[in-house]
Amino acid sequence: MSSPETLLALGYLLSAVLFVVGLKRLSRVRTAPSGNLLAAGGMLVAVVVALIEIGVVPYYWIAGGLVVGGALGASFALKVRMTAMPELVARFNGLGGGASALVGLAFFWLRVIEAEAAGSPAATIGVVAMVTVVLSILIGAVTLGGSVVAELKLRGALRGGGRLGAARHVVTAGLGAVGAAAAVAGSVLPAGAASGAAVLVVALAALALGVLLARPIGGADMPVVISLLNSLSGLAAAATGVVVGNLLLIIAGTFVGFAGLILTRIMCAAMNRSLAGVLFSGLGADSEAGDSEYHGVRQAGGEEAAMILENAGSVVLVPGYGLAAGQAQHELWELAQALESRGAEVRFAIHPVAGRMPGHMNVVLAEADVPYDKLVEMERIADQLRHTDACVVVGANDVVNPAATEEPTSPIYGMPILPVHQARSVFVIKRSLAPGFAGIKNELFEQPHTMMLFGGAKDVLRDLTAELRESAGV
Ligand code: TAP
Repeated sequence: MSSPETLLALGYLLSAVLFVVGLKRLSRVRTAPSGNLLAAGGMLVAVVVALIEIGVVPYYWIAGGLVVGGALGASFALKVRMTAMPELVARFNGLGGGASALVGLAFFWLRVIEAEAAGSPAATIGVVAMVTVVLSILIGAVTLGGSVVAELKLRGALRGGGRLGAARHVVTAGLGAVGAAAAVAGSVLPAGAASGAAVLVVALAALALGVLLARPIGGADMPVVISLLNSLSGLAAAATGVVVGNLLLIIAGTFVGFAGLILTRIMCAAMNRSLAGVLFSGLGADSEAGDSEYHGVRQAGGEEAAMILENAGSVVLVPGYGLAAGQAQHELWELAQALESRGAEVRFAIHPVAGRMPGHMNVVLAEADVPYDKLVEMERIADQLRHTDACVVVGANDVVNPAATEEPTSPIYGMPILPVHQARSVFVIKRSLAPGFAGIKNELFEQPHTMMLFGGAKDVLRDLTAELRESAGV
C-alpha cells in the first residue's frame, strides 16, 4: 500500500475507533458529553478522509462546507431548548435520510443514465448494487417524510391524525404497491428516461409513505417514533455506504441503525407498550380525565407543606415532564439544598420514561448541576419509598400513577412506576388536575396522605424553598 493510501486507511480506522469509544461513553450520563465529542470528531475525520479519497471536491469547498455546517450545527445546538430536543433530533434524522436518498439517486443517475448504459440498470451495475440503491432511496425518503411530519407535530404546527381516517390503510397499501412496482420497473427497463422516471417514482412513493405513517401518531408518542426514524436514517446510511463502497459509512450507519432499534425497544418496554401499539393506537393524543372526576383532593399552600417537610428525615424528589416544561430544575435543586441544610437526606428518583425523551430527567437535572450521586434509578429506590418520610412529585403524573400496578383495565397497567403513594406524605406540584401523557386519572391525587400544591413548578418550588428558609431563619 502506498503511503497516501495508508494514511487514508489509518484515518478511517481512527474514525471507526472514535465511533465505538464515543458510543460506549454515551451510555453513562457522566461520560456522555465526552462520548458525544469523540463520536462527532470521528465523523469529522471520516468526512474529510472520504472527500480526500474521492478527490472530486476542491479543498476550498471542503473548508467552506466545514465552516457553514459547523456554524449551522452550533446555532441549532445553542438555541435549542431542552424540551425541544426531540424536534431537533427529528430534523437531523430527516436530513440524514434525505441525504441517503439523494446519494442513491445521484449514483443511479451518474452510473446508469449519464453513462448511457446499454442494458437494464440491474444488468449494468449488478442486481445487488441495484437493490442497495433502491433501499437507500426507499429508506432515506421514508425517513425524510416521517421526520418532517414528526417535527411539525412536535412543534404543534400539525395536529390530529389527518383527514384520511381508516382509508389511510388502503392508501398506504396502494403506495407500497406503486413503490414496489416502480422499483422493479426501474431495475429491468432499458437504462434511460423510463427507468430514471421509475426510480423517481420510488422516491416520491416512499416520501408519501413516510408522511402517511407518521401523520396519525399522537404528538406525545413521537419520541418513540423519532427513535425509530433515527434507526431508519442509520440503515439508509448503511445502504448508501454499500452503494458508494464506503466501509465507514456502513459501520456508522449500522451503529446508528441498531442503537436506534435498541433505544426504541427500551422505550417501549419502559412504557410497557408494543411498538405496534405506539404506531397504531392513539394513546397520548387525547386527554380523558377532567377535574370533575376527582373527589376529596387535599390542597395545601407552601407554608403548610414547609411545616411537614421541615420535620422530614428523608425526602425523595420525583421530577417529571412538567419540571422540564416549566424549566424549574434550578428551583428544585434549591429546594433540595434547603432541605439538606435542615438535616434531611434528599434523593432524586429517576423513572426511565419520565419526561418525553430518554434520559430527559438526567439531562434537565445536570443543567442545574445536581450531583450525579443524588440521582437514584427507579429499580434502586422503589423499595425504599415505603420508608421515606416525604415524596415531592414535581410535574410528574403517569410515572407515579398507582393504576399501573393496581388496575388491570388501565391503559398503563404493567408500566413500572415509582410507588410514591407508599411514602408517609406525598406532595404533588402541578398546575391543575389535568392528566399527563396517557390521558388518564391518577388516584394518587385523591389519597388522604397526598397534598396538591397547585401552580407552575417554578413558582411553587420558589415559594416552598422560601418558606423553609424563613422557618429556619436563614
Ligand atoms: P406526564 O405523565 O406527561 O405528566 C406531566 C404533568 O406535568 C402533567 O400532568 C402536567 O399537569 C404537569 N405540568 C406541565 N407543565 C407544568 C409546569 N409548568 N409546572 C408544573 N406541572 C406541569 O409526565 P411523566 O410523569 O414524566 O410521564 C412521562 C410520560 O411520557 C409517560 O406516560 C411516558 O410513557 C411518556 N413518554 C415518555 C417518553 C420518554 S422516552 N421519556 C417517550 C414517549 C412518551 P398540569 O397540566 O396540571 O400542570
